[in-house]
Amino acid sequence: MANPLNRRGFLRAAAAMGATFASGNAFAAPSRKRWVERRDLFAEGVASGDPAPDSVLLWTRVSGAAKSVPLTVEVSEDAAFTRVIATARTRALAEADHTCRVLVGALKPARTYWYRFADKDGNGSRVGRTRTAPTDDDPRPVRFAFVSCQNVCEGAQNAYRRMAYDDERARPEDQLCFVLHLGDFVYEVVDYPEDFKDGHRYDRRIRPAVRYPQGEKLKVGFHIPITLEDYRTLYRSYLHDPDIQDARARWPFVSMWDNHEFSWLGWQSFQQFDGIDRPAQTRKVMANQAWFEYLPARVARPGRRSVERFEAPAVKDVPIERFDDSGLGQERNNLLAIRSLTGYRALRFGRHVDLLITDQHSYRSQDPGGRKEGDALGSKDFPEMAPEELMRALDAGRALAGGPPDTLSFGNVSVPNFRKAEPAQTILGAEQKAWFLNRLAASRATWKVWGNSEGTLDWRADPQNLPAGTGARWPGKGYACLGGGDYGTAYRERAEIYDKVRDGGTTGFVTLSGDRHSFWAGLAAKDLPPAPFEPVGVAFVTASISAPGLVEAYEHRFPKDHPLRPLYIADVAGKMRPAINLLMHHGVRACLDYQRTGDAAAARRASNRDLAPHLSFLDMGGHGYAIARFDADAVACEFVCIPRPLERSEGEDGGPVTYRVTHRAAHWSAGQRPQLEQRVIEGDPGLAL
Ligand SMILES: [Fe+2]
Repeated sequence: MANPLNRRGFLRAAAAMGATFASGNAFAAPSRKRWVERRDLFAEGVASGDPAPDSVLLWTRVSGAAKSVPLTVEVSEDAAFTRVIATARTRALAEADHTCRVLVGALKPARTYWYRFADKDGNGSRVGRTRTAPTDDDPRPVRFAFVSCQNVCEGAQNAYRRMAYDDERARPEDQLCFVLHLGDFVYEVVDYPEDFKDGHRYDRRIRPAVRYPQGEKLKVGFHIPITLEDYRTLYRSYLHDPDIQDARARWPFVSMWDNHEFSWLGWQSFQQFDGIDRPAQTRKVMANQAWFEYLPARVARPGRRSVERFEAPAVKDVPIERFDDSGLGQERNNLLAIRSLTGYRALRFGRHVDLLITDQHSYRSQDPGGRKEGDALGSKDFPEMAPEELMRALDAGRALAGGPPDTLSFGNVSVPNFRKAEPAQTILGAEQKAWFLNRLAASRATWKVWGNSEGTLDWRADPQNLPAGTGARWPGKGYACLGGGDYGTAYRERAEIYDKVRDGGTTGFVTLSGDRHSFWAGLAAKDLPPAPFEPVGVAFVTASISAPGLVEAYEHRFPKDHPLRPLYIADVAGKMRPAINLLMHHGVRACLDYQRTGDAAAARRASNRDLAPHLSFLDMGGHGYAIARFDADAVACEFVCIPRPLERSEGEDGGPVTYRVTHRAAHWSAGQRPQLEQRVIEGDPGLAL
């Protein structure tokens, strides 16, 4: 039975959030509502989001309606709806593409509930399951999955099925509390099968899963959304994937967008195609609106606080020419567009977990690594590599220690330093960063968990150690950097955050990320050798659910005769192996040894210990999901890797598991160095160790 005092408090809170809310019944009682499941009328399924100890947002959509549709939602303590504890009237709003969000309150903490929607005739949605958060003083462990990067046009979502299969068989106290979705819930860049020979790219069968009513076909070949209806179509199409839909019906999701919910190379309200930034304020608002309508989350336009209605500001696509000191475009429509929805937020799960979620795209300054002025700064001799000192100069701009150089160079190629007068790169932007750093310092939870769509761990290699005669001579001063665009090369901002963690005596700092389409486990440090290595936390990156990764591209595209091929792809015993894992974790000599002997353990003995003291695990070829578990003593993160999900697995378990690997860190005190302990639980992680 719901506590009536809590209920009154909740009703006030819900009213303040502008939400329809369920009125809790005084006693649990069998359902008296007519409900006959009609999945065809609720074709996008059901979902729940952002659980709190006393409330959760529930979601559905009515398919094929012309007007708003009145609905009833029931919440029950059992799946058979014999113990219904809340019933409420709500509506699938025509202006919200017939989606419906309802905040249900007066719930008990850390409880599983079932919910379902029905129209006035009793036509019902499928049944959803959700779970409330534990109260702030609850000492029980918190276990949740984190995921990213699902692509229904290019692969299958077997990972979700494996996750559900395992979860259904877990002890109740070990079941997942929620799924943290770190973005690329959809890919707005859509390939149409007819644009490809045989309808395939690499080994991937391109499915006709998304067709934009309008859309625009770009020179590079893919199609992008250009209207609100296009963006909505994208979400609807993704929700017709049975495994995505089942996952949303089983667990509450806590979601944050990455780039593809708006635009591939998007930043603020710019899109970038063919190397040109275009102002796209109208599309940024459309993207926010569609995300808001389809992913239930406690987010709103600043000052409006409605979690039920998206209020689209009227904006125009006009040039953005003036930027402030943090690179934020001051043009009015840009500010209106990015402020039409504030995604960053904090959620608390019991005594042990404060989850701080940030937005990596709406406020970021232009990515200095993607600039046309720097196009010449690449070398075919060293694919994907750039000297670390060049990446640091690009990142810092005028703030570079020792002063910015006049030119930027990579070997014999020099260009004028276009960053010389510009401010340092920021991914968070000034306002969000201030919020984040304050919340981090104020958190009293055992674990301060940064849910950030992008990775923080450095990706680098040591081409300076290549033996003479292996390809060209590395022209950099020291290490090479392979990444770009995320916190792995946002050196200054990352250092600012980590210095705050260290100076504030913040312990239990954990970063969970996605985006890189690869599994990473390691220590969070602002610098690597030869600079002092001083980790302040632990960091985990989960692989993609299904979107293709770098290794796959190498297998198909990496030149067979390139002298450095063994650093990226090793050809051993007639099979291609992801040597890139060794390259970034152990260095060039380990790669060359491996290509020569085919013996991974022997290759690791040639490891360059200074290259990656921050890494415990790296698999650039993996797919799957990760499970994080937090308690008073430790954090543990399990990577569940599945085979490349080319086709939907027929089995109810979602298909085989390639490996399960756990990394655990005992809680540390201020000034102590966090340590990761690795355990292979099942399967063979190959070159990832
Ligand atoms: Fe992605």
